[in-house]
Amino acid sequence: MTDGSVTVRVPAKVNVQLAVGGLRPDGFHGLANVFLAVGLHDEVTATPADSLRLTVGGPDAAAVPLDGTNLAARAARALAAHHGLAAPGVHLHLAKDIPVAGGMAGGSADAAGALVACDALWGTRTPRAELLALCAELGSDVPFSLLGEAALGRGRGELLTPLPVGGTFHWVFAVADGGLSTPEVYRECDRLRAAAGTGATVDAVPEPEPSPALLAALRDGDSAALAAALSSAGAGGGSSNDLQAAALSLRPSLADTLEAGTAAGALAGLVSGSGPTCAFLTGGAAEAEAVAAALAESGTCRTARPTTSPAPGATLLP
Ligand code: C5P
Repeated sequence: MTDGSVTVRVPAKVNVQLAVGGLRPDGFHGLANVFLAVGLHDEVTATPADSLRLTVGGPDAAAVPLDGTNLAARAARALAAHHGLAAPGVHLHLAKDIPVAGGMAGGSADAAGALVACDALWGTRTPRAELLALCAELGSDVPFSLLGEAALGRGRGELLTPLPVGGTFHWVFAVADGGLSTPEVYRECDRLRAAAGTGATVDAVPEPEPSPALLAALRDGDSAALAAALSSAGAGGGSSNDLQAAALSLRPSLADTLEAGTAAGALAGLVSGSGPTCAFLTGGAAEAEAVAAALAESGTCRTARPTTSPAPGATLLP
């Protein structure tokens, strides 16, 4: 137990591959989800308090729910319950830089950050395996926010195998105005599959598999090879992200964003997770700056952020 406050830094993610299987009876989709942590971060600060209190700062603060549905608040309650603590006495402050409802696991990052911050504040010393299990109960992407770097997620995305990454990749993230709801994007994916006559359930959709070429490109740190895989590894439609067609169907203007980024010299562009953020892989730091400037100029996004990957998972700041 510490008397002061503790701060945890947590990265955003991009799914370099999101292969979506059929709708399972439990309402989730089986995935082959290749997560890559990137250098946009939220910071979660935990300070002793009499009861659970939540505040949020950052440009998108107004879009973050402050009620009991907030994933960081749920994480604090879950950790307290796990250790039989009567009530989670903590003030959590979320300094948000990750786009809200942007397909970059911002809410999941806050949940993983809150778990690690409360664990340090309360001195509960939860073993890593137990933290990962708590993460999985909070959401499919939360275990990866704890782990960071790169990993293959199976099941609904929560069963992680770390992946080797052989170099630095340079990205630009085009942040949209307003978010997209993840369940709605999955529902649209199912609707498009049903409309195409292929069916949307587990028996109709092939088991999702990671692309060997994409995993090799990551392992080799080869941007050109990764760009080729981002544009071809999917089930169709020229993207390794099977949710891309659904995000574009719900937000057709994202096609303009993708076009603007590739016209500006990105090696490849794709929707990040369930969107609406678009991710662009570039050839280096200077190229990323140039693509970000062109995207900002294009008027097809709210802001464009250059950054690199991989990035460490949830980290306690000194
Ligand atoms: O696990 P999480 O709470 O992040 O999931 C949010 C929603 O996204 C789920 O309720 C479900 O509708 C959808 N989802 C899915 N298949 C997954 C992960 C999420 O259908 N593998």
